[in-house]
Amino acid sequence: MVYNKETGSEPRIYGCTRTASALLSHCICIGFTVFIALLSRPGTSWFSWHPFFMTLAFSFFMTEAILLFSPHGSPLKRFSHKTKGRVHGILQGLCASCAVLGLAAIYYNKHLNGKAHFTSWHGVLGLLTVCVVGLQSLAAVPLIYHSLAKGWSLAKLKRYHAATGMVTYLLGSASLLLGLSSAWFTGSVGEYTWYLSALCSALNALVIMSQVSSAYTAKKRLMS
Ligand code: HEM
Repeated sequence: MVYNKETGSEPRIYGCTRTASALLSHCICIGFTVFIALLSRPGTSWFSWHPFFMTLAFSFFMTEAILLFSPHGSPLKRFSHKTKGRVHGILQGLCASCAVLGLAAIYYNKHLNGKAHFTSWHGVLGLLTVCVVGLQSLAAVPLIYHSLAKGWSLAKLKRYHAATGMVTYLLGSASLLLGLSSAWFTGSVGEYTWYLSALCSALNALVIMSQVSSAYTAKKRLMS
């Protein structure tokens, strides 16, 4: 079966695969966040807040904020696009807040221990990621107050927001993966758990990339 240009419909198997992968992504982002929370035991030290808040921000809030637009696996499938946009904004706000708290926790922990800051690839990329999350949130304001971006159509703003959002998500996943390569994590889990954790993070990134890119290629196909 091939893509039907008249109706814009896809073969059923594609829809089933997308639903299955979105469901898998929901399970991963909840399971992985709970796993890191149990492992880091937030509150037991200043450091413990860092993996907890960062996983909550990037694995849970950011993933759910994008998955809610999924035509196949959204928990808000029956709601209007406007409502989805509002919930997306709230979840991204929570993501940015958790990212700032996670950064503050590790910064303060290093300060207490007299260690130098941003000396590893994880630290540098992590800092860049938190800055990009802040910029991405600021750049989203004209989507609500359109008059702020004179000369830009709403469709163009949305396209740019989605493209830069994908880059932000990839940065978050890369920082998370580098965090999993830290001495703390590799020393806390066995080999199989490490591979499984890395796989979860990579799978989520693949599902999100595929959802966002296919949403925009589908629109292009319908317009052509
Ligand atoms: C996307 C999520 C994450 C971001 C943006 C991030 C960001 C950062 C930043 C900016 C630092 C350096 C702070 C400084 O030098 O003052 C850092 C350090 C650290 N992070 Fe993360 N982190 C993330 C996730 C994780 C996770 C999931 C773990 C553990 C599994 C982790 C473990 C560590 C460790 C052990 C350090 C101290 C050693 C070092 O500086 O590399 N991080 N993180």
